[in-house]
Amino acid sequence: MSVTTAALRDPALGNRILKVDHAGEFGAINIYRAQIAVATVFCRDLLPQLREFLAHERRHLATFREVMRARGVARCRSYWLCGIGGFALGLSTGLLGRSGIMACTAAVETVVTSHLAHQLVALDAASDTAAWTAVNSILADEQEHQATGIALSRHSVLYQPVGWVVSRATSSVIWLGMRL
Ligand SMILES: [Fe+2]
Ligand SMILES: [Fe+2]
Repeated sequence: MSVTTAALRDPALGNRILKVDHAGEFGAINIYRAQIAVATVFCRDLLPQLREFLAHERRHLATFREVMRARGVARCRSYWLCGIGGFALGLSTGLLGRSGIMACTAAVETVVTSHLAHQLVALDAASDTAAWTAVNSILADEQEHQATGIALSRHSVLYQPVGWVVSRATSSVIWLGMRL
């Protein structure tokens, strides 16, 4: 890790990233909540995997909440948009069946992992150790979600169309969150 321990001069970028990621985790929690509700009826074999993902997302949310609390940062104005949007995304893709669920996961987590990589570079440059550490702590989980989603949906006809819609929706919410 090349982040220095020098005093943080400008916490604004780190605060903004923490807020967006915190809201994004609330979105992810709601995606998996909706998918679990649908999978309970249509594909119960996916439940252990989805519950594990949900547990990870809850831990990620708590990680960001803790750092935000320590810095006195309020949650993002996009928080409820992420939650409602996430639930709608999880429900609609869940109704397409197991490939829809996993294509949604693949697309969301591909956008997320690429976004996290950019954030880590920016936070490194800003010497924001606390925010960098929080973002870095969730990266391996998100990469695992991405790999699982891709492996379980890439041969489906739904992979491209669901991926197209979901990645644009996810990118738009992140874009909006960074400006709210
Ligand atoms: Fe997460
Ligand atoms: Fe995730």
